[in-house]
Formats: sequence, C-alpha cells, structure tokens
Amino acid sequence: MTTLQARFSSSSKSKQLPFVPIHLETLRLDAVLDFDLYVKRDRQMTLYRGADLPFTEQTQRKLLENGVDVLFIAGAASGAFQRYLEKNLDVILASPDLPASKKAGILYESSKALVEEVFANPTYGENIRRSKDLVSSTISYLVQGRDAFINLLKITNVNYSTYSHSVNVCTLALALANQAGYTDPKFIYDLGVGALLHDVGKSKVSDRILSKTSRLSLKEFEIVKRHPEWGIDILRSSNEITEESYFPVLQHHERGNRRGYPHSLDFSATHIFSRIVAIVDSFDAMTSDRVYQAAMSPFDALRVMYAETDAYDPNLLRSFTVLLGPDSDQNSPKSEPEQDIEIVSDTFGVSNDEAC
Ligand SMILES: [Fe+2]
Ligand SMILES: [Fe+2]
Repeated sequence: MTTLQARFSSSSKSKQLPFVPIHLETLRLDAVLDFDLYVKRDRQMTLYRGADLPFTEQTQRKLLENGVDVLFIAGAASGAFQRYLEKNLDVILASPDLPASKKAGILYESSKALVEEVFANPTYGENIRRSKDLVSSTISYLVQGRDAFINLLKITNVNYSTYSHSVNVCTLALALANQAGYTDPKFIYDLGVGALLHDVGKSKVSDRILSKTSRLSLKEFEIVKRHPEWGIDILRSSNEITEESYFPVLQHHERGNRRGYPHSLDFSATHIFSRIVAIVDSFDAMTSDRVYQAAMSPFDALRVMYAETDAYDPNLLRSFTVLLGPDSDQNSPKSEPEQDIEIVSDTFGVSNDEAC
C-alpha cells in the first residue's frame, strides 16, 4: 500500500466514528435519504428519522423550532451521505436560503472526500465519473460570481493535503481561466477535470518515498518525476475523460524555460490547460505549510513565480495576479502541515514545490 492509499484508508477509518455531525441545510426537503438521522438528547444519540422516510418541510421546521440545526448520521453511513451530497449538490448550491460561505464549505468538503476516494481507487471508472460531475457542480457554483470564488479561496487557505491540493488546483484553474477570458463551457469543463485529477499519478509513488521527510536521492526524485505519466496511465485505464483533459495531468510540471518535467517542453509544446495548471499548482504548493518550508504569503509566492524567468506563461501569470487582487494580501498562510516529499533545489534545479 502506498502512503497515499494508507492516508486515505486511515482517513476512511477516521470516518468510522460512531456518529458524524451533519448540518440541517444539507438535507433536501421531501427527499428520501439513504441514511438514518440521529439527534443528541441527554448526551445520547437517539434515532430521529429512519432512512426510508422523506425529510419534509415540517420535519425541518420542528427541528429548527427546537433549536436543532445539527443532526448526526452513523459513521458507517458516511459513504451514503457523501453520495447523497454529490447527487444533490447542484440543488444545495443553488439554494437561496443557504449563505455563500456554507455553500463553499459543503462544496469543498464534498470535493475533498471524493478526491480521497479517487486516490484510494484511481482506476475505478465510477470515481472518475463522479469527479466529472463534481467539476460541473464547482463550475455552477463559481459562475455565481466573485464572492463565490472568494468564499472558496478562504476555505482553501485552511489546510494542506494531497486531496485538498487537488481541489484547490481545480478551483484556482477554473477561476484563472475565467479571468483570462476563456468562457467556452467545454474548455472550462475539460480543464476542471484535468486540474482536479492532475496529481492522480502520485497514487503509484511508493510509500517509502512519499513518507520520506529528509532529502530525496536523485533516484527517488526520478521516480517522483514519473507521476505525470503514471497519471495518464491510470486515467487511460478507465477511459472516462476527454483527450484535452490529459494535458494538464501530463504537463503540469513542464516549464516554459524547459526546466520542467517529464519532457522539458517549452511553451510552444504545451497545452493551454497545462500552462494554467502549472501556475495554480505552484501557487497552491508554495502557499501551503509543508514539512520542509512554511507557507509563503500569496504575495511572496507570486513574487517567486515572476522571478523564475520564462517558467510560467506571462499573460496567464498577469491574469492570475489580477484574479487574486487585493484579496491575495488578506489570505492568511495555510496551516496544519502534512508530510510530503522534499526536493532539493540546488541539486535538481527545481523548487521544492515542483513535486506537487
Ligand atoms: Fe504534480
Ligand atoms: Fe500538484
């Protein structure tokens, strides 16, 4: 089992808590749920509503009248709840009763949970199909306006993990494309799918390498550098995504100055999706707390990117700077560092974040 898989299975185990809280706003009215609902009474969990009964407006009103806005599900029902959320995400995100910040939270948590499942079982076609649906929901959410993006951006600044990184990269890539004037729905959708899955090849990197906190040897780094091609292999096996969506998976570590990998391509040989994802991938990596470096501020991360001559598409980098705008200075550094690989800049001519 690789480190990523171990992380995901331990994460799944952590979900097997006896009970998991869920917010009332996530439950669609008049829908029959696939899980039992519990309430906490006198510090005891009591079955409130069986899975076979519809959750009605009257049910919701009664709960709110009694000051209850959090219910519980059994830990073993977390998977059913995740699927319910995904199925109803568009309706939940379109709800006029739900504040934008809560919508952002629901979308983000739901996305992270799905990416965990994708990494745990990356060749399972159903997981890739669910990822595509999730990208559609994210696009529907982001078109609600800049506030929607800012709310998601605020959440992305809280934690780093491989799956939160994937969600962040997807969100930022969609926003950057929009900022740069790309509005064609197919373009946006194909980009989002590739961005969400850009690091899926890391699921094939060995446990020993991914869990290493000291410097990687040259040989180990050569293995890490294979994750873009492994990502393509994984995704081809399920044959669920379009040809365009493969580009950011394969080319997100390519740099315009030909110092990237796996093929040292210059700009003319890379796809526009790859150039977009290269920017947001580096940015998210640099603004995250890592075992080898503290999170940079968004301002400092941009400064580093501008200083890397010809590494990033200059027009896209300018658009990204405008996108972050004054809000970029207000974002607090990310927290909760997670173990990851250390790449030695001097030895390999790449920054630590080139492995992200
Ligand atoms: Fe990567
Ligand atoms: Fe990445």
